[in-house]
Amino acid sequence: MNGDGFLHRYFLNNGEKRLHKWLHYFDIYERHFERFRDKSPVVLEIGVAGGGSLAMWKGYFGPGSKIIGVDIDPQCKQHEAEDIEIFIGSQDDPALFDTIFEKYPHVDIVIDDGSHIVHHIVKSFLMLYARVSVRGVYLIEDLHTNYWEEYGGGLKKADTFIEFAKSRIDDLNACHTRGALPPTGFTAGTDAMSFYDSVIVFEKRPQGMRQTPITNGMFFPR
Ligand SMILES: C[S@@+](CC[C@H](N)C(=O)[O-])C[C@H]1O[C@@H](n2cnc3c(N)ncnc32)[C@H](O)[C@@H]1O
Repeated sequence: MNGDGFLHRYFLNNGEKRLHKWLHYFDIYERHFERFRDKSPVVLEIGVAGGGSLAMWKGYFGPGSKIIGVDIDPQCKQHEAEDIEIFIGSQDDPALFDTIFEKYPHVDIVIDDGSHIVHHIVKSFLMLYARVSVRGVYLIEDLHTNYWEEYGGGLKKADTFIEFAKSRIDDLNACHTRGALPPTGFTAGTDAMSFYDSVIVFEKRPQGMRQTPITNGMFFPR
């Protein structure tokens, strides 16, 4: 188990707002989000529904954290609370995110748990990833929908987020492609991509020159 199991416990003991997550996600969250706890992060989750996850994030990230929710359903506004602000609109609307980033220019974590429609996921990523803070994390969940026709998905279908993410592996390694693939902002700003069942996590970190020095042990004659 990663972290101290706060999120597992919170979920299983939740008696407040409706909260809907797959159980295996909690370990993934704790692995990638632990370093932000009690550091006053700004966290943006697409997909509010019953508001349970926003309350969970507030409890997990602690005092000083700001939790921003985005949902297309105006009813979700009722789940606002101290340090939890909800914006109503669609995750494929650039104007909505312009408004959010004007108010919160420093977002540390994005969690996409919105429509799960493949072209929405890709569009949100293209709009938001570059704006996430330089040591931030971008997590997309429920990517099993990328294999389902009703969400625009299908195995190896060209425009799914899963296929999009596979191409980002090439971007991550662009410096080694002998010019075939020029390094991009993604190459320069991404440290790691982690693939799980239904979840992909991107971790940002400014990248330096790729170096491969050879070192030798020193020999001290007696
Ligand atoms: C899976 S639920 C979110 C669950 C919540 N994060 C939780 O863990 O309990 C998905 C939410 O996405 C919202 N949604 C659907 N289409 C959307 C869109 N285009 N933009 C933003 N939100 C959308 C739905 O209204 C619904 O509330």
